[in-house]
Amino acid sequence: MSAVSRRARLGVVGLGRMGAVHAANLAHACPSAELAVCYDADAATAAALGARHGIAVAGSVEELLGAHELDGVVIATPTGTHAPLALQAADARLAVFVEKPISLERAATLQVVERFEAVGLALQVGFNRRFDDTVADVARRVRAGELGAPYLLRISQRDMSPPRPEFLAGSGGIFLDMGIHDFDLARFLVGDVVRVAAVGTAVSDPAFAEIGDFDTALATLEFANGALGVVDLSRVAGYGYESSAELVGEKATVRLEMPPALLAEWRRAGEATRPLLPTYDRRYGPAFAAELDAFARAILDSVPPPVTGRDALAAFDIAAAATSACALGHPVAVGAPT
Ligand SMILES: NC(=O)c1ccc[n+]([C@@H]2O[C@H](COP(=O)([O-])OP(=O)(O)OC[C@H]3O[C@@H](n4cnc5c(N)ncnc54)[C@H](O)[C@@H]3O)[C@@H](O)[C@H]2O)c1
Repeated sequence: MSAVSRRARLGVVGLGRMGAVHAANLAHACPSAELAVCYDADAATAAALGARHGIAVAGSVEELLGAHELDGVVIATPTGTHAPLALQAADARLAVFVEKPISLERAATLQVVERFEAVGLALQVGFNRRFDDTVADVARRVRAGELGAPYLLRISQRDMSPPRPEFLAGSGGIFLDMGIHDFDLARFLVGDVVRVAAVGTAVSDPAFAEIGDFDTALATLEFANGALGVVDLSRVAGYGYESSAELVGEKATVRLEMPPALLAEWRRAGEATRPLLPTYDRRYGPAFAAELDAFARAILDSVPPPVTGRDALAAFDIAAAATSACALGHPVAVGAPT
């Protein structure tokens, strides 16, 4: 069979911000995948996306899972619906790519992870940063020993403006929804985290406090190998999107900077300005395509996906520890009951 004809047939459930990106990538930017069908609880959204990509629109999740000869399904619905949908897909013997986090609850996260392990199906979670060329290169060189022992990790993730209030209300909070990417990156670059301290505040809008969330937060991480880390998170940075990091080590220090939106710098008397990226999808566009192509390849080659359910569980545990530490006002061991 030729490489072109060996494509994993995938369906997408949930076609909002993230699902539309995934569908477009499957349709145009993933050589190992074929976008076969889509479904959204909002019929008009599904119809529009189906027409845009010239693909089938399922009338229900059951129809999508059962009637389109799929190899796998991409789940990009609101977080609270991921676990039941993933379990339905496992019952239909389909591999799953699920957006982060798998669930708002640890028990449901573990249930999904264990179910996929038991049936031997691929379960990949949307930690897209690992598929960014720059991040992947840094991780490879750190593993090759170029940095020596890691000492200090700093990660900043800042949104220019917050997501919709309805999204925030069901997001699980700033540590679980947003910080989980950085907690996964911390594990990817440095290793396991054993203890977390955290603080959060709502300074821009009382609406954050009303739903028990923060617009600004800090988490400090203690790694099993003795290194320390700090993650700063903002929903309201105003100037643009930021996803940067710095890892100080025994032999070298590496900085992961944000690229400018355009390679143009305007210089005027005493100042230089360059355009900044406004959103995460502009920063990580190619990585979103690469993670889905890797998922399709894992299905085709019958190998474990490069980011597993266990990675998702580990990042969930760090996020849960940060949430607890923030509420309790003292450090919390990762994996301690919350
Ligand atoms: N990896 C990333 O960087 C990243 C970025 C944004 C969002 N996300 C994650 O993606 C998920 C979706 O977030 P979003 O911002 O795209 O949300 P969204 O609200 O923009 O879109 C969700 C879509 O799912 C549909 N939907 C709701 N319940 C459904 C159901 N039971 N079955 C089918 N469709 C249903 C809604 O109609 C909507 O179109 C969340 O889990 C979020 O954490 C990840």
